[in-house]
Amino acid sequence: MEKREFIYEGKAKQIYATDNENLVIIHYKDDATAGNGEKKGTISNKGVINNEITTILFENLEKNGIRTHFKGKLNDRDQLCEKLEIFPLEVIVRNIIAGSMAKRVGIEEGTKPENTIFEICYKNDAFGDPLINDHHAVAMGLATYDELKKIYEITGKINTLLLKAFGDEGIDLVDFKIEFGKNAAGEIVLADEISPDTCRLWDKATGQKLDKDRFRRDLGSIEEAYIEILKRLGAK
Ligand code: C5P
Repeated sequence: MEKREFIYEGKAKQIYATDNENLVIIHYKDDATAGNGEKKGTISNKGVINNEITTILFENLEKNGIRTHFKGKLNDRDQLCEKLEIFPLEVIVRNIIAGSMAKRVGIEEGTKPENTIFEICYKNDAFGDPLINDHHAVAMGLATYDELKKIYEITGKINTLLLKAFGDEGIDLVDFKIEFGKNAAGEIVLADEISPDTCRLWDKATGQKLDKDRFRRDLGSIEEAYIEILKRLGAK
């Protein structure tokens, strides 16, 4: 399958049309941004590593009954994916409190809540992807209550599967962000990527951060951390 016209460029990926109107090619770049684009840089080989990590995780999810947009890895940086109409929502799951939640409500990073925390944000750079609730999302026409119910249901299953996939490799899945879209048949399908760019991943033994916080917080050894995640997930 060959790339046709360019459709869209995001912060970390580009999307191209293909000969098939229901399929797109997603190209993974090395560009990294943080703080809604305020901090910009590149992480060498990030596109290659995240393409591989997302492939491993999406294949795992598909095998376990989650519908994803992933159709196949084409080469180092390109994936063939189902074309979707993306919900302009970022769905965040928190198993351990960190990042924006720790800051917003004054809870120490690393605190483990009794329950799993689900958040949604309005995916809009101009407004800085603000945290919203279901009622906002419905009022704004971003999704229906029924669609949100399905999205939370699928997200809960994805969390269980990812906790196991990372947990088995000695990694704590602290939190992550996922996105969903609707395909031509109207099904709700997991989109985007799951990688150290979109998850907080802490080594269970040492507490070392193996994710994009190394870039956001200038901790160094960023590529090494991403490679470590790939090695652990890939070493089967
Ligand atoms: O920044 P915050 O604590 O809200 O992030 C929660 C999780 O969502 C983190 O794993 C982060 O990497 C991910 N995230 C993301 N893209 C965003 C915002 C958050 O992948 N735009």
